Amino acid sequence: MSLFIKKPLSAFEEDMKKSEMKRVLGKWSLTAIGIGAIIGGGIFVLTGTGAYFHAGPALALSFVIAGIACVFAALCYSEFASMIPVEGSAYAYAYGTIGEVFAWIIGWGLILEYAMGSMTVAVSWSGYFNKLLHLFNLHLPAYLTQDPKSYTGEGFSMNLPATIIVLLITALLVKGTKEAAKANNLIVLLKVAAVLFVIIAGAFFINVANWTPFVPEVATVVNNGESHTAYGWGGVVSGAAAIFFAYVGFDAVSTQAGEAINPKKDVPFAIVASLLVCTVLYILVSLVLTGMMNYADFNPTGKYPDAIKAPVAAAFDLAGMPWAVFIITVAATVGLVSVMMVMLLGQSRIFMGMSKDGLIPKMFSDLHPKNKTPYKSNILIGVIVAIVAGFTPIATLADMTSFGTLFAFTMVCIAVWLLRVREPNTPRSFKVPALPLIATLGIVINIYLMSKLNLHAIQLSGAWLVIGVLIYFAYSRHHSKLNNSK
Ligand code: ALA
Repeated sequence: MSLFIKKPLSAFEEDMKKSEMKRVLGKWSLTAIGIGAIIGGGIFVLTGTGAYFHAGPALALSFVIAGIACVFAALCYSEFASMIPVEGSAYAYAYGTIGEVFAWIIGWGLILEYAMGSMTVAVSWSGYFNKLLHLFNLHLPAYLTQDPKSYTGEGFSMNLPATIIVLLITALLVKGTKEAAKANNLIVLLKVAAVLFVIIAGAFFINVANWTPFVPEVATVVNNGESHTAYGWGGVVSGAAAIFFAYVGFDAVSTQAGEAINPKKDVPFAIVASLLVCTVLYILVSLVLTGMMNYADFNPTGKYPDAIKAPVAAAFDLAGMPWAVFIITVAATVGLVSVMMVMLLGQSRIFMGMSKDGLIPKMFSDLHPKNKTPYKSNILIGVIVAIVAGFTPIATLADMTSFGTLFAFTMVCIAVWLLRVREPNTPRSFKVPALPLIATLGIVINIYLMSKLNLHAIQLSGAWLVIGVLIYFAYSRHHSKLNNSK
């Protein structure tokens, strides 16, 4: 049995031919899936932290750096998607290039991005949903909105909205990809409109004095009792790691290759297009935000202690537009639904790829007789995510999501280069320009951003990968179709 056995490209072609999934996604639906996964709570929440604890007004540059890191990865994903257009994403790309054990670890790591990502988002969704109810003067009892650890009262408690939303989305995903994509298209229109609203309406309230100095001098700031260094160019770079979560999601497009009408062309297009659209929007939002409100005012122990938690809403409130808070809350509540939808969809498609290869049980690739969706997998993932989201406090999970994502990005940058060297003549409908340079920069930036994540999250993610390796040796290796076919 070989740990490093590689799946031949022809075997991927075979898988594609045999697939019974419905090819229903065109170029724009795929792009909307990317935007649907990218724009979520991150831009509305992390911008305050990025500005006060890291970059100051130069937060926009942090968004540029994180955006560039993502573009490198996006180009590498695109080249792969143009050659291996199957649902497994980075897992499948690694299987075709660096070998089974690495592919497994990447697939296992992607659970951090997709399943844990959707848990994190479900909990933030519940927060926005509650805010929305409050705006209408409706209040759910505390024991139904808080996980048992965060609940200060006595007796039973759970985060019920988080659980319910995941179950509802799961039902939609079981119904069909076309239905889910239609809902996603609508939500994307709404959230892009909300982000444009923030940019355009906010622009009228920019006070350019707030942008000077654009890169404030190095200073010490205190975060939760711990002091650390902020500002200067170092702050711009660490700010990129702090806001990275806002970019997570564009790679989910690659998990939809099995349902794309023309995957080799449209998946690369959609990955790059969705990322570029969001990068431009994010840079503009961060410029507007730091122009509307001085970065120093996001100090959690300062004049506006709550601004750090909801910076965009706080800026509009201060500008005398409290009704804008309503728009932002609605946009975030509805917008986060599509983030969860795409992440849950992506997770089931990655499992499907792994299951077809025998590395996880067959039930993960069983299709619904009529809807042709991997319904058993969708239901299992949905129930687990719903329960965890309802009962666990998940503060560090956002950083674990970023870790899983950056880990996959790094591996994809390595793998695409390897494949170019090994199989230079295999046709690719998209080729990364100046590959050695782009892949090297992608690898370096992604590893650097990973190292800047919360240490506890890094340790937990490391432990997660070790558990994955154990499962590989205990189960997957023995069930690998490729290893057993030799
Ligand atoms: N990028 C997504 C968000 O910001 C995960 O919510």
